[in-house]
Amino acid sequence: MAAKRIAIMTGGGDCPGLNAAIRTLTRTAIHSYGYEVLGVLDGFAGLIESRCRPLTEADVRGILRVGGTILGASNRTNPFAWREHDTAPIIDASDRVIQTLEDWGVDALVVVGGDGTLTLASFFAARGVPVIGVPKTIDNDVHGTAYSIGFDTCVATVTDALDRLHTTAESHHRVMLVEVMGRTAGWVALHAGIAGGADIILIPERPYAIDGILAAIERRRARGRLFTIAVVAEGISSPSGDLIYQSREGETHSWKLGGVGNALAADLETHSDQEIRSIVLGHLQRGGSPSVFDRTLATSLAFRATQLAHSGITGVMVGVDGDQVHAVPLSDIAIGPRRVPPQHTLVDAAHHMGIYIG
Ligand code: F6P
Repeated sequence: MAAKRIAIMTGGGDCPGLNAAIRTLTRTAIHSYGYEVLGVLDGFAGLIESRCRPLTEADVRGILRVGGTILGASNRTNPFAWREHDTAPIIDASDRVIQTLEDWGVDALVVVGGDGTLTLASFFAARGVPVIGVPKTIDNDVHGTAYSIGFDTCVATVTDALDRLHTTAESHHRVMLVEVMGRTAGWVALHAGIAGGADIILIPERPYAIDGILAAIERRRARGRLFTIAVVAEGISSPSGDLIYQSREGETHSWKLGGVGNALAADLETHSDQEIRSIVLGHLQRGGSPSVFDRTLATSLAFRATQLAHSGITGVMVGVDGDQVHAVPLSDIAIGPRRVPPQHTLVDAAHHMGIYIG
């Protein structure tokens, strides 16, 4: 009898910890279950265009500590609305994905992705494709899991940046606005803002007032604290009430947020005599070696996903609930981004500590 085949794909924006997941699945599938493993190249694009590479235990040696993904990723490919090239018409290429999996003889497909990629995976599950999801995204906005692969490393990177910015802000008596990623969820801003000792944290889930920010800066000055660090999520509204995008190519879900920090700084400068600077951390937040937490999270989730595939349980996503790994139906998580709840403990803590959080 031919060996069973499992395929793994990394979709959406890359993040630290993806390689740890690829390594775990490959080693478990080969070592414990005797499977053949296929690595899909460049996310859903590889399934539409039939591009993959076989993975052996030797192929995944030494990648645990390496950021990014050895398989490539894409956050612009939607198989249900796909363009072969820039001027080609948009077509539904989902049948091609299903055909590719059949041609390859794949018994189970593990999709490591964020909210967008896993939603697409749920559509394939609904069409009978044996798919299992593994959550990854620095945004941490996937339903059905408290943590996604990549978030912890990202928060550590942003926190390190805030530590560095503190000294220069303090030396120059400046207000520093630090714009961070996260799309329409404030998890990165909230966690890094708290961990990095920010004085102001602005997240999309909570409206802010210019007066509130100015009052927070003034309160600090009155106490002799002549500098202020503000963490600004890229998904907050600008002072004029709009989301600010760097680019609006493709479908709305793939429009790129960015620029609100600069807009806010410009507005604040018209009301304050203090020097204000804005910094955009950008893709630095997605790079680097995965933290210990992300390595162990990726290992736990990819291991359970491989076990489920072997047991024939598909149509689910593995996630963390406390210190347990559980499986939730993919259809349950395809409901848009998971956002910071209004009464989150860190939001409450911020209020009680005098941090302005809207
Ligand atoms: O979803 C991850 C993420 O890094 C977001 O936080 C950010 O808005 C977006 O991806 C950036 O996408 P791109 O890599 O296309 O610039």
